[in-house]
Amino acid sequence: MNNFIFYSPTEFVFGKGTEMRTAEMVAKFHGTKVMIVYGGGSAVKSGLLDRIKELLDKAHIAHVELGGVQPNPTDPKVYEGIELGRAANVDFLLPVGGGSVIDTAKAIACGIPYEGDFWDFFTGKSVPEKALRLGVVLTIPAAGSEGSGNTVITRTDGLRKLSLRTPELLRPAFAIMNPELTFTLPAWQTACGITDMMAHIMERYFSNTEDVDVPDRMCEGTLKGIITEALRVMKEPYNYGARANIMWAGTIAHNGTCGVGCEEDWASHFLEHEISAIYDVSHGAGLAVIFPAWLTYMAEHNVKKVAQFAKRVWDVPESDDKRAMALEGVARMKSFLHEIGMPTTFKELGIEHPDIDLLVQKLHENKGELVGNYVRLDRNATREIYEIANR
Ligand code: NZQ
Ligand code: ZN
Repeated sequence: MNNFIFYSPTEFVFGKGTEMRTAEMVAKFHGTKVMIVYGGGSAVKSGLLDRIKELLDKAHIAHVELGGVQPNPTDPKVYEGIELGRAANVDFLLPVGGGSVIDTAKAIACGIPYEGDFWDFFTGKSVPEKALRLGVVLTIPAAGSEGSGNTVITRTDGLRKLSLRTPELLRPAFAIMNPELTFTLPAWQTACGITDMMAHIMERYFSNTEDVDVPDRMCEGTLKGIITEALRVMKEPYNYGARANIMWAGTIAHNGTCGVGCEEDWASHFLEHEISAIYDVSHGAGLAVIFPAWLTYMAEHNVKKVAQFAKRVWDVPESDDKRAMALEGVARMKSFLHEIGMPTTFKELGIEHPDIDLLVQKLHENKGELVGNYVRLDRNATREIYEIANR
């Protein structure tokens, strides 16, 4: 196991009715002038936004609003938020929504106190030293941004989806998580979220680090729990227990709990980010196409952990033929993804003729000549994975 620092200071307030504690939590973390950030309307439609504004009013906490964040969020909304936040003298960000809303709020939080362009942090030109605090009201378990220090924004100029990782600065101070708020999620979004959280665990699990049996078992156990609960939640969207399990799984998948001490991979996420940047598909659906293709490639190039994954997560019987075990695991994973309504090829994702040349080119421009760690992937390798996803 490698050395690690595990720092996850977010206070998670989980369960029925917990959004009623929003104002109390904002006050606890010294928010006096709040910017509420939300998406395209789900929080308005459900009445959640009004409830939160009422709670803040009752607690005499001033607030302004920034609505209309789109999935795969882009920079114009971040600039708008920075301007609004400065003009209104905001000292706390309150995203109400999912990864796109939270990530936008995080970029605003580090953009407000910075004199330069917030993109400097994403391109490595500068390192954020300050950020406004933020607290989250989560409405979709998926990206895990409520417990992560990361933000992912698409630069409209050149369609580059870039991420910033700052565990110390951008982890939310609190995250309110009421599984009942996820009852209104369409089946497609529920399934995209499930796929994304599974991918977050797998990015950590597929590692060459030795002596990691405890992290491995945590990853495998959480994945198995997700698979069981996912099948339940797709059939019974109003099942509180299933929604609750899925919601918590989304957080632990990405707050560093799983995979501590392991060298992480992240190639599949990088491969996917190019797809959602160019074709504006849901991140989770893009991962449903890329991860099985990446695993198929790994069955040929570094089979060990893929065979273990097949056995322990997908119950594939042990055999001397590790490659066959691995491929059977991939087949079972694809059949699960189909069962929850996810695509597993570009075509099923609605992209008939993906521009693989462009995907490969942008991927390596944005992420370097070699991506991933489980196997370091060059342009030929990433092309092959995109091609497998296109079969
Ligand atoms: O915009 P509204 O109207 O709110 O609708 C949203 C959106 O259309 C809807 N939704 C959310 N909660 C709902 C609801 N609809 C009905 N009822 C509810 N309770 O769901 C749609 C998707 O929302 P979004 O925030 O885009 O989803 P998600 O949480 O999957 O976030 C995806 C973004 O996060 C990034 C992705 O790349 C993508 O841009 N990621 C962020 C990470 C991080 N910060 O750590 C890590 C991830 O790997 C990921 O890359
Ligand atoms: Zn993800």
